[in-house]
Amino acid sequence: VDANGTRVFDLTAEPGDSDLGHGRSTRTWGYNGAYLGPTLRAERGQKIKVNVHNRLNEPTTVHWHGMHLPAKVDGGPHHPIPVGGDYQAAWTVDQPAATLWYHPHPSDLTERQVYRGLAGMFIVQDREQDDEQDDLPHEYGVDDIPVIVQDKNFDGGQLSMSDRFLSDIGILGDEILVNGTPAPFLDVRTSLVRLRLLNASTARVYDFTMSDGRPMQLIGTDGGLLSAPYPTETVRLSVGERAEVVVAMRPGERVELRSAPTGLGRFQGGRDAFDVLQLRAKPNQLGAQPNQLKVPQHLADIERLDPSQAAQRRTFTFQGREINDDRMDMDRVDAVVVKDTVEVWSVANGHDTPHSFHIHDVQFQVLSVDGAAPQPELGGWKDTLFLEPGKRYEIIARFADYADPTTAYMFHCHVLRHEDEGMMGQFVVV
Ligand code: C2O
Ligand code: CU
Ligand code: CU
Repeated sequence: VDANGTRVFDLTAEPGDSDLGHGRSTRTWGYNGAYLGPTLRAERGQKIKVNVHNRLNEPTTVHWHGMHLPAKVDGGPHHPIPVGGDYQAAWTVDQPAATLWYHPHPSDLTERQVYRGLAGMFIVQDREQDDEQDDLPHEYGVDDIPVIVQDKNFDGGQLSMSDRFLSDIGILGDEILVNGTPAPFLDVRTSLVRLRLLNASTARVYDFTMSDGRPMQLIGTDGGLLSAPYPTETVRLSVGERAEVVVAMRPGERVELRSAPTGLGRFQGGRDAFDVLQLRAKPNQLGAQPNQLKVPQHLADIERLDPSQAAQRRTFTFQGREINDDRMDMDRVDAVVVKDTVEVWSVANGHDTPHSFHIHDVQFQVLSVDGAAPQPELGGWKDTLFLEPGKRYEIIARFADYADPTTAYMFHCHVLRHEDEGMMGQFVVV
């Protein structure tokens, strides 16, 4: 924090050597290190300044996924940082506590840059929500754990970028890393542990479950806490989505966070079930009282956006690599949104390939899935949404605070191969 109360972060995108569990070093990329990047944390209301340096051998950008900020500092493909160059982004954090992330977003190169290791978590905290937060596990690294899940391929111990399968969605790995660690485990020292799950893979969809079938309390999604915890045995995350879950542990027990078969068949490249993270509870330190195994029943007040207030309705159909039959054109604006209005977007997956829909700048609410009320796990703020083949989703968002008629935000498929191939559009807020 500098003299003006601004929180300053320095990120250097750089190559490095990692041992990702194969006993020899392999070339990877990271921020301030060989693989992934530091977890950034900031309070709601805080001013942020990030200095980014590019020590890679190709252009990059850093995008703040899920962050409400001006288009100029959004880090999309219009703002490449040249090789050896610097970039500065500054904004004020103003949104509820949430698990966000950052990653590169350059034209055509996003899949390989993320796959090589460029990604990190950005945790927003909110003092006004402290009552709720205090009763949830919230000690970072102790009972509040970042869980960045990625799938990788290795060839002779080297990270491999080749598509193994005839894949329609890009690289699918057959090994799982959590925070860059293969076969990871976590020593749990408390009766409740909060996992901030981030799917930072390039294509894979996960259905997270516990190996013994115990329920997880889903407490948050992309944009913040749910209004109430939702006990569930499965949490599905497509590319770019996050979920916060609380798992209850008893002394001495071991249980595995798994990814169960998703039923997506060939789109998951054959192998579909994985162990992700083993939780090992210490035999004595827990002192688990049954009444401590509960999470608060009220988590957050979520203002419901009202579709009758919508200033505009739009329809987007995802099909092949196109959105409404068009691929990304850096010089074409696909939607002009009026600042401080609410819009309803109807987003459909018109074919049998799974897609993952993401909008920059805003958090949205899901109004309906194929005309029906959404499941409770879609009841909170979202910025990324799994588009099941053949389904239509209605979402609602308010485009508040920042207008800039000359700088666009993106919306796109977050399957990174699709994004690189142009499954992306642009909107401006005026
Ligand atoms: Cu996570 Cu446009 O990106
Ligand atoms: Cu984004
Ligand atoms: Cu897609």
